[in-house]
Amino acid sequence: MSEKARIAVLTSGGDAPGMNAAIRSVVRNALAQGAETVAIRHGYEGLIDGDFTTMEVSSVGGILDRGGTFIGTSRSERMFTDEGLDRCVEQLAAHGVTGLVVIGGDGTYRAAEKLDERGVRIIGVPGTIDNDLAATDTTIGFDTAQNTICDATSKVRDTASSHERTFIIEVMGRECGMLALYSGLAAGADVILVPEVPWQLEDICASVAQGVTRGKKHTIIVVAEGAAHAFGLAEELSRACGHEVRSVVLGHIQRGGSPSAFDRTLASRMGAAAVDALLDGESGKAVCLQNADMALETFAVCYSHSHEMKRHIYDLAMVLAR
Ligand code: F6P
Repeated sequence: MSEKARIAVLTSGGDAPGMNAAIRSVVRNALAQGAETVAIRHGYEGLIDGDFTTMEVSSVGGILDRGGTFIGTSRSERMFTDEGLDRCVEQLAAHGVTGLVVIGGDGTYRAAEKLDERGVRIIGVPGTIDNDLAATDTTIGFDTAQNTICDATSKVRDTASSHERTFIIEVMGRECGMLALYSGLAAGADVILVPEVPWQLEDICASVAQGVTRGKKHTIIVVAEGAAHAFGLAEELSRACGHEVRSVVLGHIQRGGSPSAFDRTLASRMGAAAVDALLDGESGKAVCLQNADMALETFAVCYSHSHEMKRHIYDLAMVLAR
């Protein structure tokens, strides 16, 4: 870049633990390379409205271990209008921004692609608990969310075991079963329901019955929100199995909390890689983790194929649940 580099960063879509670590890395790596940095508050909404703040090294102090995103986020409908996109281009030019880092999930990448088409130099960083983006082995926030789900599942198991009950635990992930699958495996769930694998009520009843026969005191069913809703499924299962089934929806608890060491490290690496990519003249791509290294892939590759369901992991979880 021949002009003085001025790098902006925003977070968009659902927040994820580790986003702060990524912002910190963007800001400090850019400053270390002589660029100026600005944060844009409230995601793309703040970009459209011109909500920019200059960042210094100290602006990102004390945030590494904090969940959420300290610069705010939003889900912006206006980003999918020509007017909104034109406004973004104008705001970036007016604030002298030469490169933009956007941290978020598939919706963030779709909008970023439109900005790239309008000549904005832009790089994505995958921040979502869903881990539903292709081309990256994992996304920032996924590891922490799994830990949160495991912790909650252990607590539910204590009471399930005491009362000899069946519990359904609903986890997030939209149409993607990655979060349910991996957290279900790590938490030792007896049944895992994901949108990618068809399931029948009778099979769940059979699993519950099998557990009872071999003396299990509880059954834990982890269900992805895209596969079924816990309350309705609990009613159906109660009727089908002939005993009461309880349900827990973990909800937004899964998005909060201090990021795990893994997510902090990943976010620190990815934020820095995004700045390096911009300073190298790259655009229209997202940083990915591939075989332990940083890589770049186009936005379209990242959002158009959701993470392929790892069927062998699902099969392993079911073998271990016996
Ligand atoms: O994309 C992240 C996510 O947490 C999904 O797992 C979930 O379906 C959705 O966001 C919830 O969005 P909101 O916070 O807007 O209700």
